Amino acid sequence: MMDAQRRALVDTAKLAYEEKLFSGTSGNLSLWCEEEEIMLITPTSVRYETLQPEDVVAMRLDGTIVEGSLAPSSEWRMHAEVYLRCPGVKAQVHTHSPYATAFAAAHRPIPACLIEMFYFLGGDVPCAAYARPGTPEVGIECAKVLKDRGGCLMNNHGVLAVGDSLSQALLRAEYIEDAARISLLAMQLGGPVALPEL
Ligand code: 13P
Repeated sequence: MMDAQRRALVDTAKLAYEEKLFSGTSGNLSLWCEEEEIMLITPTSVRYETLQPEDVVAMRLDGTIVEGSLAPSSEWRMHAEVYLRCPGVKAQVHTHSPYATAFAAAHRPIPACLIEMFYFLGGDVPCAAYARPGTPEVGIECAKVLKDRGGCLMNNHGVLAVGDSLSQALLRAEYIEDAARISLLAMQLGGPVALPEL
């Protein structure tokens, strides 16, 4: 079922892992298959090196498993809430990428100080309020700040990048980490200067 999409999800996950957007088994990815009304999502606690297309879980947004022998990501409720609340979103990449997660740990949004942030992220990277991992509230809080943004920080947790495709969500996750790293360097030089709207 949905072989090409499963393969794309696994390929994207492995690429993000190679890029060190997450370590160990942290992070998770999903793809919303609109026609089938099915969410494809990475399984919980499986190492990215060993991840295979058949490990991907196919499920409904209410939690019903359609296909898959492994348990879905512990954050499946977050992914489901974001699909329900943000209609344009078709793919999600949740990372614990270190520089951006440092901002999340400090409850500091990444300021809009680089041109790429306007083109790829819609401006700054806002903070979503903390919610207990695994609960729908994680997604509810993210959806509140994602309205016109390509991604957000999840306070004391990590990063959620969204898009109309897996490749767009991954690109945004990469730019969020890049923006966090550059902003942190700029802070050592007196602080990043806000960029006026382009
Ligand atoms: P899963 O392995 O259950 O997807 O959890 C990883 C994670 O990063 C939770 O936030």
